[in-house]
Amino acid sequence: MTRTVYLNGDYLPEAEAKVSIFDRGFVMADGVYEVTSVLQGKLLDFPGHLKRLGRSLSELGMGNPHSDEEWLEIHRQMVALNNIEEGIIYLQVTRGNPGDRDFAYPPEGTPQTVVLFTQSKPGLAANPQAKTGLKVISVEDLRWSRRDIKTVQLLFPSMAKMEAKHRGADDAWLVEDGFVTEGTSNNTYIVKDGRIITRQLSTDILHGITRASLLRFAAEAQMQIEERPFTIAEAQAADEAFFTSASAFVLPVVEIDGAKVNGGTVGPVTTRLRELYLEESLKSAI
Ligand code: PDD
Repeated sequence: MTRTVYLNGDYLPEAEAKVSIFDRGFVMADGVYEVTSVLQGKLLDFPGHLKRLGRSLSELGMGNPHSDEEWLEIHRQMVALNNIEEGIIYLQVTRGNPGDRDFAYPPEGTPQTVVLFTQSKPGLAANPQAKTGLKVISVEDLRWSRRDIKTVQLLFPSMAKMEAKHRGADDAWLVEDGFVTEGTSNNTYIVKDGRIITRQLSTDILHGITRASLLRFAAEAQMQIEERPFTIAEAQAADEAFFTSASAFVLPVVEIDGAKVNGGTVGPVTTRLRELYLEESLKSAI
């Protein structure tokens, strides 16, 4: 079945959606994106994703092309038209097509390009990796310094992911000045003596929406949280390690640079946090 995608107000078969070669997203990576997960046909953490989208746009001096109500309506249409029970919705807004390549921003009023598409992922909630865990390697973090803005310039994370694959791992944890910043496309955590440790928010990392919800649910469940940076050595010696993102929810890490964490098995805190996140976020899914 061909997907129905969204492009600038139209719902189209994917092969008919065309964007200019001069689009700023294409030639300058001048665009921002969001990924929202869908479970039971509903959007998870949607207000958080909209809020971060607004912030990413405003940090880059771009307007928001839609109101929250319009964004919700477009997302709902995408879920319905593509019959998504479990999966994700990808949304991208670029600075549009100035008609030529130029480092200067296009004139005020140049229409932005708005694209949405869905990815159906049956079995997302029942991901078997939640039981087996994943292997990560560490890679020096060579991204730009505004990682709090969710831009489409994802070449370095993509390179790090490929290095992980070539070295027989699932993903890479990025390290700067000796401390883990985050994963290629997720926020990272360790557990030590029952405490959940994760790097504090700053421009060094993306302010994960899953992270924000999970920390809120964990605090409500009286779990101890420490927001501070940690090293790879500390992670290798931790009781548990895991990561979060909209497409993964909470997934365990059982090996870091070849060293097994928790004897290479998934720990109870990570398992509990995944259950907690799925349970609680479904309550507010729309
Ligand atoms: N990535 N850090 C980075 C660098 C990310 O790219 C992501 C999300 C996260 C987690 O954020 P959230 O919980 O809001 O998904 C952290 C998305 C899923 C992606 O690029 O596909």
